[in-house]
Amino acid sequence: MVITIATILLAYILGSVPTAVWIGKARYNKDVREHGSGNAGATNTFRVLGWKPGVVVFLTDTVKGFLAVYFTQISGITTHEYAALFYIAAGLLAVLGHIYPILAGFNGGKGVATMLGVVLALHTPGALIALAVFAIVFFTTQYVSLGSLASAVTYPLVIFIFFPETDLYLKSFAVILAAILFLSHRGNIVRLMRGQESKAKIYGKR
Ligand code: G3P
Repeated sequence: MVITIATILLAYILGSVPTAVWIGKARYNKDVREHGSGNAGATNTFRVLGWKPGVVVFLTDTVKGFLAVYFTQISGITTHEYAALFYIAAGLLAVLGHIYPILAGFNGGKGVATMLGVVLALHTPGALIALAVFAIVFFTTQYVSLGSLASAVTYPLVIFIFFPETDLYLKSFAVILAAILFLSHRGNIVRLMRGQESKAKIYGKR
Protein backbone atom coordinates (compact mmCIF):
# COMPACT_ATOMS: atom_id res chain seq x y z
CA MET A 1 0.00 0.00 0.00
CA VAL A 2 2.87 2.38 0.80
CA ILE A 3 4.27 1.80 -2.68
CA THR A 4 0.85 2.47 -4.21
CA ILE A 5 0.49 5.77 -2.34
CA ALA A 6 4.01 6.69 -3.47
CA THR A 7 3.12 6.01 -7.12
CA ILE A 8 0.03 8.21 -6.78
CA LEU A 9 2.17 11.08 -5.48
CA LEU A 10 4.68 10.36 -8.23
CA ALA A 11 1.80 10.68 -10.72
CA TYR A 12 1.43 14.34 -9.79
CA ILE A 13 5.18 14.94 -10.20
CA LEU A 14 5.17 13.11 -13.54
CA GLY A 15 2.21 15.12 -14.80
CA SER A 16 3.94 18.23 -13.56
CA VAL A 17 6.99 17.76 -15.81
CA PRO A 18 6.57 20.83 -18.07
CA THR A 19 7.91 19.39 -21.30
CA ALA A 20 6.78 22.30 -23.49
CA VAL A 21 8.38 24.84 -21.15
CA TRP A 22 11.63 22.95 -20.70
CA ILE A 23 12.08 22.11 -24.41
CA GLY A 24 11.24 25.67 -25.40
CA LYS A 25 13.69 27.18 -22.95
CA ALA A 26 16.47 24.64 -23.46
CA ARG A 27 16.43 24.40 -27.28
CA TYR A 28 14.83 27.64 -28.47
CA ASN A 29 15.40 30.06 -25.60
CA LYS A 30 11.63 30.69 -25.53
CA ASP A 31 8.96 30.17 -22.91
CA VAL A 32 5.95 29.02 -24.94
CA ARG A 33 3.70 30.48 -22.23
CA GLU A 34 4.75 33.95 -23.38
CA HIS A 35 3.75 33.30 -27.01
CA GLY A 36 0.76 32.12 -29.05
CA SER A 37 -2.12 31.00 -26.85
CA GLY A 38 0.13 31.00 -23.78
CA ASN A 39 -0.60 27.31 -23.27
CA ALA A 40 2.26 25.05 -22.18
CA GLY A 41 1.10 22.17 -24.34
CA ALA A 42 1.74 20.43 -27.63
CA THR A 43 -0.55 22.63 -29.73
CA ASN A 44 1.11 25.85 -28.69
CA THR A 45 4.54 24.26 -29.08
CA PHE A 46 3.60 23.41 -32.69
CA ARG A 47 2.40 26.97 -33.15
CA VAL A 48 5.37 28.72 -31.55
CA LEU A 49 8.32 26.39 -32.10
CA GLY A 50 7.35 24.14 -35.03
CA TRP A 51 6.22 20.60 -35.69
CA LYS A 52 9.26 18.68 -34.40
CA PRO A 53 9.18 19.99 -30.82
CA GLY A 54 5.36 19.87 -31.07
CA VAL A 55 5.45 16.13 -31.77
CA VAL A 56 8.00 15.58 -28.99
CA VAL A 57 5.84 17.47 -26.48
CA PHE A 58 2.69 15.64 -27.57
CA LEU A 59 4.34 12.23 -27.23
CA THR A 60 6.08 12.94 -23.92
CA ASP A 61 2.95 14.50 -22.40
CA THR A 62 0.97 11.42 -23.49
CA VAL A 63 3.59 9.02 -22.15
CA LYS A 64 3.75 10.77 -18.77
CA GLY A 65 -0.03 10.40 -18.37
CA PHE A 66 0.15 6.74 -19.35
CA LEU A 67 3.07 5.98 -17.02
CA ALA A 68 1.43 7.81 -14.12
CA VAL A 69 -1.47 5.32 -14.21
CA TYR A 70 0.66 2.35 -15.22
CA PHE A 71 3.02 2.67 -12.23
CA THR A 72 0.03 2.55 -9.90
CA GLN A 73 -1.41 -0.41 -11.81
CA ILE A 74 1.78 -2.41 -11.25
CA SER A 75 2.26 -1.30 -7.64
CA GLY A 76 0.70 -4.47 -6.25
CA ILE A 77 -2.94 -3.59 -5.57
CA THR A 78 -4.66 -5.26 -8.50
CA THR A 79 -6.65 -7.48 -6.13
CA HIS A 80 -7.63 -4.61 -3.82
CA GLU A 81 -11.38 -3.98 -3.64
CA TYR A 82 -10.86 -0.35 -4.64
CA ALA A 83 -7.94 -0.82 -7.05
CA ALA A 84 -9.76 1.13 -9.76
CA LEU A 85 -10.00 4.14 -7.46
CA PHE A 86 -6.22 4.17 -6.95
CA TYR A 87 -5.64 4.10 -10.71
CA ILE A 88 -8.12 6.92 -11.15
CA ALA A 89 -6.45 8.96 -8.39
CA ALA A 90 -3.12 8.60 -10.19
CA GLY A 91 -4.68 9.65 -13.50
CA LEU A 92 -6.42 12.63 -11.96
CA LEU A 93 -3.24 13.81 -10.22
CA ALA A 94 -1.23 13.43 -13.45
CA VAL A 95 -3.72 15.64 -15.31
CA LEU A 96 -3.84 18.20 -12.49
CA GLY A 97 -0.03 18.12 -12.38
CA HIS A 98 0.07 18.98 -16.07
CA ILE A 99 -2.38 21.86 -15.67
CA TYR A 100 -0.91 23.07 -12.34
CA PRO A 101 2.72 21.94 -12.43
CA ILE A 102 4.73 22.38 -9.26
CA LEU A 103 7.81 22.28 -11.50
CA ALA A 104 6.71 25.32 -13.53
CA GLY A 105 5.08 27.78 -11.14
CA PHE A 106 1.67 26.05 -11.33
CA ASN A 107 1.19 27.51 -14.82
CA GLY A 108 0.94 24.58 -17.24
CA GLY A 109 -1.10 23.26 -20.14
CA LYS A 110 -4.70 22.25 -20.76
CA GLY A 111 -4.22 18.56 -20.09
CA VAL A 112 -5.25 17.03 -23.42
CA ALA A 113 -2.20 14.89 -24.25
CA THR A 114 -1.77 13.85 -20.62
CA MET A 115 -5.46 12.88 -20.48
CA LEU A 116 -4.94 10.79 -23.61
CA GLY A 117 -2.13 8.88 -21.88
CA VAL A 118 -4.26 8.42 -18.77
CA VAL A 119 -7.29 7.10 -20.66
CA LEU A 120 -5.11 4.86 -22.83
CA ALA A 121 -3.97 3.19 -19.61
CA LEU A 122 -7.44 3.08 -18.05
CA HIS A 123 -9.66 2.16 -20.99
CA THR A 124 -7.75 1.69 -24.25
CA PRO A 125 -10.68 1.08 -26.65
CA GLY A 126 -12.54 4.17 -25.42
CA ALA A 127 -9.34 6.21 -25.68
CA LEU A 128 -8.65 5.07 -29.25
CA ILE A 129 -12.19 5.89 -30.37
CA ALA A 130 -11.92 9.33 -28.74
CA LEU A 131 -8.57 9.82 -30.49
CA ALA A 132 -10.17 8.90 -33.83
CA VAL A 133 -12.92 11.47 -33.25
CA PHE A 134 -10.27 14.06 -32.38
CA ALA A 135 -8.49 13.30 -35.68
CA ILE A 136 -11.69 13.56 -37.73
CA VAL A 137 -12.76 16.87 -36.16
CA PHE A 138 -9.26 18.31 -36.29
CA PHE A 139 -8.58 17.42 -39.92
CA THR A 140 -11.99 18.64 -41.08
CA THR A 141 -12.03 21.93 -39.12
CA GLN A 142 -8.31 22.55 -38.39
CA TYR A 143 -9.24 23.55 -34.84
CA VAL A 144 -7.21 21.53 -32.32
CA SER A 145 -9.34 22.80 -29.46
CA LEU A 146 -12.58 21.68 -31.16
CA GLY A 147 -11.06 18.24 -31.71
CA SER A 148 -10.05 18.13 -28.03
CA LEU A 149 -13.55 19.12 -26.90
CA ALA A 150 -15.19 16.58 -29.24
CA SER A 151 -12.94 13.79 -27.97
CA ALA A 152 -13.70 14.77 -24.36
CA VAL A 153 -17.42 14.28 -25.05
CA THR A 154 -16.81 11.10 -27.02
CA TYR A 155 -14.83 9.23 -24.35
CA PRO A 156 -17.55 9.02 -21.67
CA LEU A 157 -20.27 8.51 -24.30
CA VAL A 158 -18.39 5.54 -25.80
CA ILE A 159 -17.88 4.01 -22.37
CA PHE A 160 -21.53 4.45 -21.35
CA ILE A 161 -22.97 3.23 -24.66
CA PHE A 162 -20.55 0.56 -25.87
CA PHE A 163 -18.95 -0.63 -22.61
CA PRO A 164 -21.81 -0.52 -20.08
CA GLU A 165 -20.08 -3.19 -17.95
CA THR A 166 -17.34 -0.65 -17.08
CA ASP A 167 -17.30 0.04 -13.33
CA LEU A 168 -19.03 3.13 -12.01
CA TYR A 169 -15.76 4.71 -10.82
CA LEU A 170 -14.31 4.73 -14.31
CA LYS A 171 -17.57 5.96 -15.81
CA SER A 172 -17.65 8.82 -13.31
CA PHE A 173 -14.00 9.63 -13.95
CA ALA A 174 -14.65 9.82 -17.71
CA VAL A 175 -17.26 12.51 -17.03
CA ILE A 176 -14.93 14.33 -14.60
CA LEU A 177 -12.14 14.35 -17.20
CA ALA A 178 -14.51 15.82 -19.77
CA ALA A 179 -15.50 18.52 -17.28
CA ILE A 180 -11.84 19.35 -16.55
CA LEU A 181 -11.09 19.58 -20.26
CA PHE A 182 -14.05 21.89 -20.88
CA LEU A 183 -12.93 24.06 -17.95
CA SER A 184 -9.34 24.26 -19.19
CA HIS A 185 -10.66 25.17 -22.66
CA ARG A 186 -13.11 27.86 -21.56
CA GLY A 187 -11.07 30.55 -23.36
CA ASN A 188 -11.00 28.42 -26.52
CA ILE A 189 -14.79 27.89 -26.30
CA VAL A 190 -15.37 31.64 -26.17
CA ARG A 191 -13.03 32.18 -29.13
CA LEU A 192 -14.68 29.37 -31.11
CA MET A 193 -18.12 30.91 -30.53
CA ARG A 194 -16.84 34.32 -31.63
CA GLY A 195 -15.06 32.86 -34.68
CA GLN A 196 -11.72 34.05 -33.28
CA GLU A 197 -10.01 30.71 -32.58
CA SER A 198 -6.79 30.21 -34.54
CA LYS A 199 -6.61 27.31 -36.99
CA ALA A 200 -3.67 24.93 -37.23
CA LYS A 201 -2.95 25.72 -40.91
CA ILE A 202 -2.23 22.08 -41.61
CA TYR A 203 -2.95 22.48 -45.31
CA GLY A 204 -0.90 25.61 -45.85
CA LYS A 205 2.46 27.09 -45.00
CA ARG A 206 3.09 28.12 -41.41
O1 G3P B 1 -4.05 20.94 -26.43
C1 G3P B 1 -4.81 22.05 -26.14
C2 G3P B 1 -5.60 22.44 -27.35
O2 G3P B 1 -6.84 21.77 -27.33
C3 G3P B 1 -5.77 23.90 -27.47
O3 G3P B 1 -4.52 24.54 -27.33
O4 G3P B 1 -2.90 26.36 -27.53
O5 G3P B 1 -4.84 26.26 -29.09
O6 G3P B 1 -5.21 26.85 -26.71
P1 G3P B 1 -4.38 26.09 -27.67
